[in-house]
Amino acid sequence: MRIDVLTLFPEAVEPFFASSIVARAQASGIVSIRCTNIRDFAADRHRSVDDRPFGGGPGMVMMCGPLFDAVEKVERDEPTPATRIMLTPQGERFDQATAREFAGRDRLLIICGHYEGFDERIRQGLRPREISIGDYVLSGGEPAAMVLVDAVVRLLPGALGDDQSADNESFSNGLLEYPQYTRPREFRGMEVPPVLLSGDHARIERWRREESIRRTGDRRPDLWKETTEPSS
Ligand code: 6GU
Repeated sequence: MRIDVLTLFPEAVEPFFASSIVARAQASGIVSIRCTNIRDFAADRHRSVDDRPFGGGPGMVMMCGPLFDAVEKVERDEPTPATRIMLTPQGERFDQATAREFAGRDRLLIICGHYEGFDERIRQGLRPREISIGDYVLSGGEPAAMVLVDAVVRLLPGALGDDQSADNESFSNGLLEYPQYTRPREFRGMEVPPVLLSGDHARIERWRREESIRRTGDRRPDLWKETTEPSS
């Protein structure tokens, strides 16, 4: 997979892509991630990428010109057609199903906004998928780009050490993860549930499934509802 991230702050996202699972996936050739500074496509001597809104009002608006030029140049660099993604609190809510969908694409182009918003003609002209990571406001799309890239890359075959580990996690089956324990067997008076030490794999599986269901019902009844009453 190839991922391009268009941002005004490449220095904010590059160190993240150089760490942990995402870095390892790049080193193994599973994904190639490139950041492009939108400001490099500014046309004037002040290197402007934003301007005051027509009609007045507070804040600044991201301009069309530099962003269209950046998108067109980056897309021309490599022939694989890109799924364009624009990060905005106005977008559809990002979830595990969307992460899975994006993990199936050959190429993503992620646009991070800043300022009060995007000139509406960016939406109209570039027709991106608009994605939000949750109902709160960030100062820019960069933290959302890190969230999206991490959630997608770890789903790519071979990205996690153990190929299975993405299947057992919270959300992968519509349930939260069951409680996990490691050594020691007793810590400050707290014991590991005996079933996990029993060696009876069928019983362990049953216990984990029950705990997952209980935990999902207690903490996220909304998730539980989605899995038991599919809307589509
Ligand atoms: Cl994708 N961008 C911004 N600026 N704020 C957000 C967001 C994205 N998702 C939630 N809040």
